[in-house]
Amino acid sequence: MDDKKLIREIKRLKKEKNAILLAHYYQVPEIQDLADFVGDSLGLSQQAAGIRAGIIVFAGVHFMAETAKILSPDSKVLLPDPEAGCSLADSCPPKEFAAFREKYPDHVVVSYINCSAAIKAMSDVICTSSNAVQIVNSFPAGQPIIFAPDKNLGGYVNQVTGRDMVLWNGTCEVHDILSAEEVIRLKWDHPDAKVIAHPECKAQILALADFVGSTTALLQFTMKDTAQTYIVATETGILHQMRKASPQKEFIIVPADRTCSCNDCPYMKLNTVEKLYLCLKNERPEITLSGELIQKARRPIERMLEISTKVRISQ
Ligand code: 13P
Ligand code: SF4
Repeated sequence: MDDKKLIREIKRLKKEKNAILLAHYYQVPEIQDLADFVGDSLGLSQQAAGIRAGIIVFAGVHFMAETAKILSPDSKVLLPDPEAGCSLADSCPPKEFAAFREKYPDHVVVSYINCSAAIKAMSDVICTSSNAVQIVNSFPAGQPIIFAPDKNLGGYVNQVTGRDMVLWNGTCEVHDILSAEEVIRLKWDHPDAKVIAHPECKAQILALADFVGSTTALLQFTMKDTAQTYIVATETGILHQMRKASPQKEFIIVPADRTCSCNDCPYMKLNTVEKLYLCLKNERPEITLSGELIQKARRPIERMLEISTKVRISQ
């Protein structure tokens, strides 16, 4: 089947099965354009929390589909490619993390949503890149905190909040290899451009950025800001929405080095239009989790959703 026919079939199946398609900004443009909602991790969780039943097709990676299942356990949650994992989530195995946590009994655990359901179940509260500062600041200033699994985001939050959180040593393989030297070179070539960066990037890149934020925050910044050119330090998928929203502006992606374009997340890009079609048609691969794990992992995610609308909570 050619792509046009596949897209027609996906639209037909979606309607026939009353399925909701949620897509992350790092998906290929064709999938983003088919989605009922495209967003960052927080926006996608908020959407999933509002769905009561039926079919959710999650065009993203495994931990995102898992989160949707936790928030909407009566829905059938499908992921087009079951191999769509995440290096950051994989960098934090539950057994090792449990031992790490035991070394800090007086610490609360704030976990970035890019982790497995088992890690979520061991956490006090979850955060995303768009609310990490707000979530951490919801704890009293003297509260000791473990932040997992992203040491780059954790380091950034430490810097913004003045905290000294204990950081798990994990990184995103896509953001962590982007090159600060390339940012400097691009700034030299485009002196009027603004640098915008996702907080999963290394501190050297964040120090060069005019704006740091989640994928949604980066997109919104480029829509409101007056610059004409942006040097973008994140995954390539977001450029689709940036170009759609501001066709007159120029967006230059920061590479890992001059020979490679490694900014495509190899896990996000495992989902293809064809796999999306097959997933809708066959209603699999399906995400399944035990009732016990859903219950344990749900509380810290709900706590995040509550805090995201409040300013402060008491411990
Ligand atoms: P956000 O969706 O919070 O911007 O995070 C990006 C990411 O790496 C998702 O895996
Ligand atoms: Fe994981 Fe990084 Fe891919 Fe996001 S971009 S899914 S953090 S590997």
